[in-house]
Amino acid sequence: MTVEGSSIDSTRPSIARVYDYLLGGKDNYAVDRKVGDVFLRDLPGSVAIAFANRAALTRAIAQIVTTTDVRQFIDLGSGLPTADNVHQVAQRHAPESRIVYVDNDPQVLVHGCALLEQNDRTRVVRADIRDPEGVRTHPETLELIDFDRPVAVVLSAVLHHVNDEEDPAGIVRHWRDHVPSGSHFFVSHFRSGDNPETAEAERVLQQTFGRGRWRTDEEITSLLDGLEILDPGIVPAPLWRPDTTAGPWNAGGAERELTVWERLIVAGLARKT
Ligand SMILES: C[S@@+](CC[C@H](N)C(=O)[O-])C[C@H]1O[C@@H](n2cnc3c(N)ncnc32)[C@H](O)[C@@H]1O
Repeated sequence: MTVEGSSIDSTRPSIARVYDYLLGGKDNYAVDRKVGDVFLRDLPGSVAIAFANRAALTRAIAQIVTTTDVRQFIDLGSGLPTADNVHQVAQRHAPESRIVYVDNDPQVLVHGCALLEQNDRTRVVRADIRDPEGVRTHPETLELIDFDRPVAVVLSAVLHHVNDEEDPAGIVRHWRDHVPSGSHFFVSHFRSGDNPETAEAERVLQQTFGRGRWRTDEEITSLLDGLEILDPGIVPAPLWRPDTTAGPWNAGGAERELTVWERLIVAGLARKT
């Protein structure tokens, strides 16, 4: 299949499709499942990372839309459509919410468009988040987003796929400098651990995709320089404003002891003052 001149490659694993497999989705190939099975079979419990991340993301979107007047979202590295996508969470609370999904995986465009074709307040843009200017000035972004009004910039589980030399802090800075005050930034990020199990997961991901960098809490916090980090700070995803109500990704909030895997991804929400 060809999308905008570039083809879906079913012979090499893709970040979006492996993640889809870990979340129980069907939009993946044998080559993706082979990588996913390393996590499911050889690193039991590790799939909790994907669920914890997704649950924190949906809580953050609900919080933004219910506690602020932000009604426009740019979801950078949005992934394949799954349960409770950003527009579904936001529009459940505020139907007027507008969402631009951005991903560089051709399959995301195909599946995203299929899901969203009924919804005139969403767009799917195939672009590289390492070119924030190109994403921001893309005609489909400008069609939906009014940059004179506050925006929520979502960077969920994507900045750890950006290498240091590609300047992840510069990506956040670009958005920070081009959105008005009152805008919010949600970030979740793999945190470098120091135990052999998680080091193996880091090795598998970096080797499979030939890129990526897990960062320390200090490095992740510094990606949000110049923004006000809101309570409770940058914390393991299940501890970010836990919600005990049932949801597709919720594993029961913070009442129980977290596994080493659930501590491996941190989340935080920041605001431009
Ligand atoms: C682990 S998934 C996270 C999906 C979703 N944001 C979430 O948190 O559930 C990472 C996504 O980022 C996308 N991605 C990675 N690098 C990217 C880049 N440079 N530009 C655009 N998308 C990128 C991948 O294709 C994948 O869909």
